Amino acid sequence: MCINWAGGLHHAKKSEASGFCYVNDLVLCILEMLKYFSRVLYIDIDIHHGDGVEEAFYLTDRVMTVSFHKYGDNFFPGTGELTSIGENNGKYYSVNVPLKDGIADDDFVRLFQSTMSKVMEVYRPEAIVLQCGADSLAHDRLGCFSLSIDGHAECVSFMKKFNVPLLLTGGGGYTKENVARCWSNETAVCLDVKLPNSLPRNDYYEYFGPDYSLRPNKFPFIENANSKAYLNSVRQQVFENLNSIIHAPSVQMHEAPPDSLIPDDFDSNQDDPINMDLRYSVRDKDKEIKHEGEFYENDKDQDR
Ligand code: CO
Repeated sequence: MCINWAGGLHHAKKSEASGFCYVNDLVLCILEMLKYFSRVLYIDIDIHHGDGVEEAFYLTDRVMTVSFHKYGDNFFPGTGELTSIGENNGKYYSVNVPLKDGIADDDFVRLFQSTMSKVMEVYRPEAIVLQCGADSLAHDRLGCFSLSIDGHAECVSFMKKFNVPLLLTGGGGYTKENVARCWSNETAVCLDVKLPNSLPRNDYYEYFGPDYSLRPNKFPFIENANSKAYLNSVRQQVFENLNSIIHAPSVQMHEAPPDSLIPDDFDSNQDDPINMDLRYSVRDKDKEIKHEGEFYENDKDQDR
């Protein structure tokens, strides 16, 4: 498992920044993964539709994108309806689970688990990327769901059980104390550690008052607008689409192209390789850069 809580910027497009996202690290990451894995599963539990990632892989069966999000009432970004299922080779490989305000742990976790069990059965991914946007938590400043950090983390622990290489990223999250709670707890879930409910003293302790706990009791929650009938109809349609996939698509693997980014620091052929156990500040590295103009013979005006 890998974690990048600073990543998960799922709205950025190939040539357009969007929704606080400038570079779509998820797409770049999945493109790298496709050199080694024939099928990658992308899951998105941010409250917003994972439109940038869906768009990047809308036409291919090598990546299945599954997004659970609030849809309707002009909620950003406005895409992710049930009928967006992919096109061409990617038909049925984009899965959208549009939800309404106030969905809480029970309904969300049940829908997540049944959908993802089905996805794992039909798609059999070789690697999974899970975008854990924390704006789907209750009391988020931009969100309108009613998930607790435990309901949210249940998605992580459920996907972990499949024992497939798993990358977790962050994403949205606009009530910062809850973002910290959520991702700390999910880091603990990855490590099979149970965190105590009382927070340890830290530099930001005062943000977490008045209870200073991992799971504060905060009310009210937004009322759940998802009826049982609505959730059942969504599940039924998603399952029907997934049943249209006959089996996991195979791909002829070629020799993997070189990694797109190989920083000089990692070049083992250097005469003087950088000591990987030391940290060099940008400032120190910059000092080693010499301008060509500094080497005039007998020039007294130069800086020496
Ligand atoms: Co979001």
